[in-house]
Amino acid sequence: MKILVTGGLGYIGSHVVVELQEQGYDVVIIDNLSNTSIDVLDNINSITGLKPKFEQLDVRDKTELSEFFKRHHDIEGIIHFAASKAVGESVEKPLLYYENNINALVYLLQNIQDKKVNFIFSSSCTVYGQADDLPITENAPIKAAESPYGNTKQIGEEIIQDTCKVNPNFKAIALRYFNPIGAHDSALIGELPLGVPQNLVPYITQTAIGLREQLSVYGDDYPTRDGTAIRDYIHVVDLAKAHVSALSRLLEKKAKVNFEVFNVGTGEGSTVIEVITAFEKASGQKLNYKIVGRRAGDVVEAFAQTDKVNSALGWKSQYSLEEALASSWAWEKKVRGK
Ligand code: WQD
Repeated sequence: MKILVTGGLGYIGSHVVVELQEQGYDVVIIDNLSNTSIDVLDNINSITGLKPKFEQLDVRDKTELSEFFKRHHDIEGIIHFAASKAVGESVEKPLLYYENNINALVYLLQNIQDKKVNFIFSSSCTVYGQADDLPITENAPIKAAESPYGNTKQIGEEIIQDTCKVNPNFKAIALRYFNPIGAHDSALIGELPLGVPQNLVPYITQTAIGLREQLSVYGDDYPTRDGTAIRDYIHVVDLAKAHVSALSRLLEKKAKVNFEVFNVGTGEGSTVIEVITAFEKASGQKLNYKIVGRRAGDVVEAFAQTDKVNSALGWKSQYSLEEALASSWAWEKKVRGK
């Protein structure tokens, strides 16, 4: 069974490709290589022994995309990762985000809406903003997006939902990720370090390996157990397995409605200081950090209520925070040749 993974050479996409191949799926990847390296293809091959089909293609190119689907008319499922994902950058370059995350989604859907294709959408817990109640369930209200990036995820879900309404044969699931961290146990794939990391864990590992001077902890005056903000950090391999479970749900026609959303997290919240402490334990490295002011746009607390995803997908995260951080550290050392 052929599955298309757009952005399949990216951080989460490459881990999903590995899990799909290990479940026996025939994978074709399209990626414009704007935020990754072609080496990831060989690294996937080294892990699974199978080199996925790959076409360098930009999902914003309507004609190219249409030609692609003429060549690959036997695709039965699509997992869509190809999008821009840096919250800060989206504030600086909103139109880049609306073009890359919205136009491309529309072109993709235009090629498949009247076909029996199963669609998995990479969404985000940022759609909730600062939720009123924690842990966060899928029924939590969608709040005004804090960034154009978050807005593209909200709009993307609405576009897919409207498409499902008029195409009963078109089935889709949106997975709202919390904070993906970690890397494959082989340390052959992971979060590619392009530029200064915005996210906490790559900044931690780059500080620990000596690439960055010191980690800045953005605020310790939040109303939390140690004053630093709380997030739900999920191992990227657990997250990848959730995608395969979601695809199976659609392929096995287990869904009662043709559009569903699931929160994908561990169900546990950790403060920034707890992540630092867990990293020091996992790596045996003391981390150099200082407390600075809050970062604009950050929410205080976000972690998932996972009953729905646990029961509907028969999926639950397996890795601990410490194991995830140990895999991030192994990946950092591998990337730096240490
Ligand atoms: C985590 C915590 C920071 C960096 C990200 C993505 C978002 C979504 C969820 C996918 C916060 C603190 C960070 C640093 C710090 N993912 N921090 N120093 O902001 O929760 O959102 O994951 O859709 O798109 O952006 O993740 O890793 O940036 O921050 O203190 O140098 O770490 O303040 O409390 P965030 P993050």
